[in-house]
Amino acid sequence: MESPFKADIVKGKVALVTGGGSGIGLEISTQFGIHGASIAIMGRRKQVLDAAVSSLRSLGIQAVGFEGDVRKQEDAKRVVESTFQHFGRLDILVNAAAGNFLVSAEDLSPNGFRTVMDIDSVGTFTMCHEALKYLKKGAPGRGSSGGGLILSISATLHYTAAWYQIHVSAAKAAVDATTRNLALEWGTDYDIRVNGIAPGPIGDTPGMSKLAPDEINNNARDYIPLYKLGEKWDIAMAALYLASDAGKYVNGAILVVDGGLWLSRPRH
Ligand code: HXC
Repeated sequence: MESPFKADIVKGKVALVTGGGSGIGLEISTQFGIHGASIAIMGRRKQVLDAAVSSLRSLGIQAVGFEGDVRKQEDAKRVVESTFQHFGRLDILVNAAAGNFLVSAEDLSPNGFRTVMDIDSVGTFTMCHEALKYLKKGAPGRGSSGGGLILSISATLHYTAAWYQIHVSAAKAAVDATTRNLALEWGTDYDIRVNGIAPGPIGDTPGMSKLAPDEINNNARDYIPLYKLGEKWDIAMAALYLASDAGKYVNGAILVVDGGLWLSRPRH
């Protein structure tokens, strides 16, 4: 679908996207690139990264991939440094890396719970922590452009409760808390805006193919007010709004992009 935004709304900006090799992370990378940004993507799998970088470059986007695991602080530090070395500045950090699997609380081992917390929650904080020195107002390469932006992808699972997703619900709740707290501290101290996006079920993503795709697809019309699954494009457009000057007064917000799903109940 054609973008409703002008092609230069993030022109000249440099974005680092964790989990940028696939799913929502890749779509955000693509749309940021189409709208003028240069893109660094971070992921664990070299083949996935290479394919994503090729697809971005085929669209004329300046893109580079860096292997790394957000669970390792040394990887986070190296990838942030490499992005700065490559492009000379860093404006936007997108935390899109996430882990997920369906399991009952009874069958989930504490290490399984910890693994998802480590990827989603600690990983998000670690990336923010390492990126801070380049995102601050007055940081190297930023000139007079003020502070940068952090965007973290969470979910709506923790607004209520979600079957077989206790680890992900807890992890995404921590991501949202991190977004709000950093918006307060770093918005005040460093002119950095920190916002989140909470997607509903988005078709054609690694997350959806893991989370009972057939059931969700078949029943979606009964539960989603807009009567369809979201598209990765919907999340990328929300990200573009928040990253552009249109979002300059938005800080500490978590934008729900779910067609109203989390509010809805079956008709009776
Ligand atoms: C039960 C599981 C499990 C499963 C792993 N574990 N998979 N437990 N059911 N299916 C447990 C293991 O038994 C182990 O605990 C612990 O988790 C660590 O497992 P590892 O295999 O060593 O972990 P690792 O190789 O690091 O893999 C991490 C992962 C993996 C999370 C398990 O799936 C991953 O990295 N996925 C990334 C891609 C992904 O899922 N993307 C989609 C995100 S979608 P023990 O006790 O045995 O040692 C998303 C949407 C959320 O986030 C919102 C939805 C609406």
